[in-house]
Amino acid sequence: MLLLDPSKKISFNRCIRDGDLVIVYERHDTMKAVKVFENSVLQNRFGVFKHSDWIGKPFGSKVFSNKGGFVYLLAPTPELWTLVLSHRTQILYIADISFVIMYSEIVPGCLVLESGTGSGSLTASLARAVAPTGHVYTFDFHEQRAASAREDFERTGINTLVTVGVRDIQGEGFPDEFFGLADSVFLDLPQPWLAIPSAGKMLKQDGILCSFSPCIEQVQRSCETLRSNFTDIRTFEILLRTYEIREWKMDCSKVDDGGSVACPPCKRRQPSGEGSMRDNSSSPAVMARPSAEARGHTGYLTFARLKCIL
Ligand SMILES: C[S@@+](CC[C@H](N)C(=O)[O-])C[C@H]1O[C@@H](n2cnc3c(N)ncnc32)[C@H](O)[C@@H]1O
Repeated sequence: MLLLDPSKKISFNRCIRDGDLVIVYERHDTMKAVKVFENSVLQNRFGVFKHSDWIGKPFGSKVFSNKGGFVYLLAPTPELWTLVLSHRTQILYIADISFVIMYSEIVPGCLVLESGTGSGSLTASLARAVAPTGHVYTFDFHEQRAASAREDFERTGINTLVTVGVRDIQGEGFPDEFFGLADSVFLDLPQPWLAIPSAGKMLKQDGILCSFSPCIEQVQRSCETLRSNFTDIRTFEILLRTYEIREWKMDCSKVDDGGSVACPPCKRRQPSGEGSMRDNSSSPAVMARPSAEARGHTGYLTFARLKCIL
């Protein structure tokens, strides 16, 4: 079960049980979701881990293999789920997701329409944002993707907050039963301008539409369509810069005469003794530099508010 209610964060108030979903964390870029079963084992490069050793331990515990290797068992959250889910399509990542939820004003109790569902990365966070009384109706025209998303939502326990429908939203629009009921509509479709007129009909007065597109030409076309019924049309590109902060053994004897150093920007770690300002050229320093693995452009987020017709 993904953590949905922040006031009942299970990682703080209960231990791992048989049947729980846990995130097995090796390092920030190596994790996987595992369902705990009393008689199962997890085997990885660190050895064999018995699930029975995990049961009864608090979330966040460090657990050991038969060879003394270790992993951490984290409570599953939508943020972690986005990093471990199986990619059946391109997905939205945390930087875009958090902006979508904030800028679309999605709060508990909201009714949200989404298309396409894709791998359900955004959907998991939408579910938490609307919980416990709201609902997300998500549509994809690809039957197998919709079925796999449904299975994932059951596995993660968010199926009570999410309904998956199979429908060509660009061709048919959203179902009429949602007419005037949606607090917000989210589109991640190849030709969003085809779905915008229907999205406008589904929104409550003042409701917000958001459309994600990887190419600026798609954004331009969507904005043209939005102008007739929407106001406050704004487009953003969310660029996230991740940093590596490491200890670095510097050899600053290699400083050139002009004082420039062939080292990244860094702060020399000062010895703790009072007044000790002596520079030791080979002492460890803390190095900070933008991470090489940081993601660049993912896409553009266009937001628009339905015009009030009165
Ligand atoms: C990039 S994926 C969406 C990813 C999703 N936002 C996520 O975070 O996992 C786009 C999805 O739109 C679906 N799609 C494309 N055209 C569609 C249409 N006309 N109606 C409904 N779904 C459509 C595709 O099948 C695909 O699963």
